[in-house]
Amino acid sequence: MIALPQSKSVLLNMSGNLPPKVPQAFDEVYRAAVRQVLTEFEPNDLIGAHQFRGSDRDRRAGARFVARRLPEMPAAERMVVANGTQSILLMLLAGLVGRGGRVALEALSYPTLRSFADQLDFGLSPVPMDNEGALPDAFEAVCRADRPAVYYALPTLQNPTTGIMSTERRRAIAEICRRYGVIIIEDDIYSLLPQDLPPPLSTFAPELSWYVLGTAKSMAAALKVAYVVAPTAEAAAERFWPGVRATYWMCAPMNGSVVSTLIETGEADRIIDAVRAETRARQTLVTERLAGANVRTRPDCLHVWLSLPNSRPAIGFVADVRALGVEVSASSTYAMAHIPAPNAIRFGMGTPRDRASFERGLDAIGEAYLQ
Ligand SMILES: Cc1ncc(COP(=O)(O)O)c(C=O)c1O
Repeated sequence: MIALPQSKSVLLNMSGNLPPKVPQAFDEVYRAAVRQVLTEFEPNDLIGAHQFRGSDRDRRAGARFVARRLPEMPAAERMVVANGTQSILLMLLAGLVGRGGRVALEALSYPTLRSFADQLDFGLSPVPMDNEGALPDAFEAVCRADRPAVYYALPTLQNPTTGIMSTERRRAIAEICRRYGVIIIEDDIYSLLPQDLPPPLSTFAPELSWYVLGTAKSMAAALKVAYVVAPTAEAAAERFWPGVRATYWMCAPMNGSVVSTLIETGEADRIIDAVRAETRARQTLVTERLAGANVRTRPDCLHVWLSLPNSRPAIGFVADVRALGVEVSASSTYAMAHIPAPNAIRFGMGTPRDRASFERGLDAIGEAYLQ
């Protein structure tokens, strides 16, 4: 077997929150799925033409995949298969918000939204939050004042704060969206590792919602397959066709097919189970090694939110951890529209190659915390 060259960086990167690699569960079933696809389908037939929303088979497999989280399996016509959540978000934000429009989102959120706002020239309306995420009253005030076209929702294992919005809060937020005609784009990417979650926000206002479920945080970071459920079949067809924008959201047919096979054979479950088990094992190490630190996380979460005392500003703390050979990210990375960020850092579970390197990273964080 050829080993891929490792990054030359001497720093241990714990700033990302990729799922841990689980070669013992992944490699054999992935190889088998590739073989199966190449046996079942004529390669040129599979790859010879664009499939703008994904092949019928891939959309059916996608419907089965998202049904893990939805009350019923959506019609395949409402599904779009794409090469990642980012591509789906870019297509939707360009089409649903556009230049000069506004997007509401939690005050701390997925930093890529800031890049999209710059690229597409729309404004961000940050919503004050508590441990669960967006506060309904504050969200309503933002809807009234800013009239956002879209609410980008990350209600499950919020990035970066790890919050999970309660069912009651989801219902309240959906009701406000309905009242103000705000379209929901729900990014549920962290939802497949926990097993006891409230239903997606989208289920409380399906007519307004685009429900996005990528595989990057539950199976493998670079699988490059994500699914979106559109409110209607017509909306899916309207938003994802080549005349809409000169961008490229489609996944390579080989990728889509391999993931469809993993879903159909049930092997996707085995991979997710293995990622969950390794994440839990690493989270146990967090609890042990950072006992006494102000840590916020969950056993099935790919990141940890560590609040710092006022005497240790986040930027300086990140530099101290870096001096010990480990990279973590300061809270300001996630602050939307220049709101002042709380004094905290985020670090991830999955980038260190094995538990020993992960423990080394935790020890560096713990050492800096005690300085
Ligand atoms: C909230 C959120 N959505 C999406 C992504 C990326 O998903 P993809 O690789 O499928 O584009 C990330 C990765 O960090 C993320 O944190």
